[in-house]
Amino acid sequence: MDSVLPHDVPTGPPAGLPDPATLASLANAFFSALPGNAPQVNGALGVAATLPFTAPVTSEISNPAPAGSPLAGPGGAGTGVPGAALPQGHVPGGNLLPSAPTHVLSLGNRAPALAPHATAQNGLPDSAVTVAPALDPRFGGAALGVPEELGAQRPSAGGAAPASPVSPGAASPYYFLGETGQARTSSVTSPDIVVPGWHEVSAQSFGLPGVDEPLAEQRFPYDRPAASQAAPNPTPVEPGGGSHYFLNLNDASRYPGQTPEAKDGVPHAGPSAHPPFDVNAIRRDFPILQERVNGRQLVWFDNAATTHKPQAVIDRLAYFYAHENSNIHRAAHALAGRATDAYEAARSKVQRFIGASSPDEIIFVRGTTEAINLIAKTWGVKHVGEGDEIIVSHLEHHANIVPWQQLAAQTGAKLRVIPVDDNGQVLLDKYRRLLNDRTKIVSVTQVSNALGTVVPVKEIVELAHRAGAKALVDGAQSVSHMRVDVQALDADFFVFSGHKVFGPTGIGVVYGKRAILEDMPPWQGGGNMIADVTFERTVFQPPPSRFEAGTGNIADAVGLGAAIDYVQRVGIENIARYEHDLLAYATSVLQPVPGVRLIGTARDKASVLSFVLKGYETEEVGQALNEEGIAVRSGHHCAQPILRRFGVEATVRPSLAFYNTCDEVDALVSVVRRLSSRRGLLIVNR
Ligand code: ALA
Repeated sequence: MDSVLPHDVPTGPPAGLPDPATLASLANAFFSALPGNAPQVNGALGVAATLPFTAPVTSEISNPAPAGSPLAGPGGAGTGVPGAALPQGHVPGGNLLPSAPTHVLSLGNRAPALAPHATAQNGLPDSAVTVAPALDPRFGGAALGVPEELGAQRPSAGGAAPASPVSPGAASPYYFLGETGQARTSSVTSPDIVVPGWHEVSAQSFGLPGVDEPLAEQRFPYDRPAASQAAPNPTPVEPGGGSHYFLNLNDASRYPGQTPEAKDGVPHAGPSAHPPFDVNAIRRDFPILQERVNGRQLVWFDNAATTHKPQAVIDRLAYFYAHENSNIHRAAHALAGRATDAYEAARSKVQRFIGASSPDEIIFVRGTTEAINLIAKTWGVKHVGEGDEIIVSHLEHHANIVPWQQLAAQTGAKLRVIPVDDNGQVLLDKYRRLLNDRTKIVSVTQVSNALGTVVPVKEIVELAHRAGAKALVDGAQSVSHMRVDVQALDADFFVFSGHKVFGPTGIGVVYGKRAILEDMPPWQGGGNMIADVTFERTVFQPPPSRFEAGTGNIADAVGLGAAIDYVQRVGIENIARYEHDLLAYATSVLQPVPGVRLIGTARDKASVLSFVLKGYETEEVGQALNEEGIAVRSGHHCAQPILRRFGVEATVRPSLAFYNTCDEVDALVSVVRRLSSRRGLLIVNR
């Protein structure tokens, strides 16, 4: 268990915190220092306040909702109900104070409660406790011996479109750097793809060892070994020969300078921290990879659209609904405690996964799109005004364009675009020239979903900060392929979707630096995000609850936690290395096929191989691949501006994950080669 939740402390306040009496006295001193009447604090778990709290609140701070929000009330303080108790842990206006939104009283009701309760249906000891009224929405109860990280305990391996581009256009108010908008009909500059040692990437047979074994033994899921760990000892690959089921990832010399640091206390995977990468064993953790499509075993090359789920995630979701299902935060009963603990444990897992400094910096949302919308419509509305500038790159997904366009239209700000070169790499010099004292935020993807370009976001963030702007990094396409450390990046915001990192759909994350989140007004209003509501005014919770109105996607947050556990067990560095070699191999065999034009040939790429095939519509290629059971996305990938930059409206986009193999790449390339030769014959015959 790596939970850091308060319930890990069985009784009394968490280590290092004052006892209840001291808390009460501190709280009383705190309130005495405030203008107005001080409530009387009776104990760490209870606040019997003498009300109303009458601290004068200016109209400016009493109403932090954006203008026009239904939450924007007339101001005023207090519950409005004489004699009514204040909500535990929060007083009206508490979250409006300049700092420390989680003030002293909150600590009290985060302490574990004391009443024992019944044994859980699952037979697990239910000895820990809590019936603390769940008014602090983050800590409705401790869970009771139900191992919220059960999932974690399961051992495991851990067509050439006609060039009809819509010009970005010099006339566009959004393009400032001499983008002519001319269609680029010539071939992309010969790519300079480095293919380091791809001969070490072994093709593997489709008769994979073990694939005929039953995938899901019908035992309790968490005590059976994952196939990936039950695999026999792997044999490292000898470059150029040998038994080719494994990549030799223990050869650190192949990856100079990539040894990970164990910076945040999380055991980071390094070359020696994990067993050699056994793709066959990994594959056995993903039941859907055994599906048959059109009589063939499924080949899933649509990972940039969504990834598949390991059995550990599927099991964790089932376990949640079988044993923990409850709304969180609100009820003082056992299942509410279990569900709350599981949800908050997932938040902590996300925090550690991306290197945030606190779980309070992690907001659960539906996905990356909602995440960016939240930021644009809260932070953006507050901080971006007429004449201000917002910078994005030409690589962006529509989700990182449209919310900023909407904000610009609403506020009179301008959207400016960092151009890319003919390989799809952002032009940092041009970016430097875009920055100025009107720049309020720079929002860039870390990996392009359409081209696969890895963007130098650390430099981009640093330059943004030097200009006095904030920086948002869109990690939707990066978190499943490389280690992310938001503190090392110094990103102000980082966003991603659970379903692209082997977790469920409908769950995603906003990371924001604590001070920035505390300064942000809420977006949606409703239950869960409030500390106190009267008909006159509403007092909001501190982050992250302030941004989680209503009943969230509890189970899928828990599922995301299990997905992160899985990725951590395999080791993100191991994944990155394997995928790097696989992408290099795929590039080396696809690029020479006659008529293939790769779109996006950056030196540093992840996962994606976008291409067009001369003489074919992209849909035709997609259909031909589907007939062989191979799933790719063909279309514009919700990134029309960058495709048009290359003179195409659509591409065929195989996108790789760590469960893909060289044999699968070979299967794809053989279909493309067959199409190429057929159309080639037709052309010759004309
Ligand atoms: N953003 C997803 C993709 O690139 C849907 O396919």
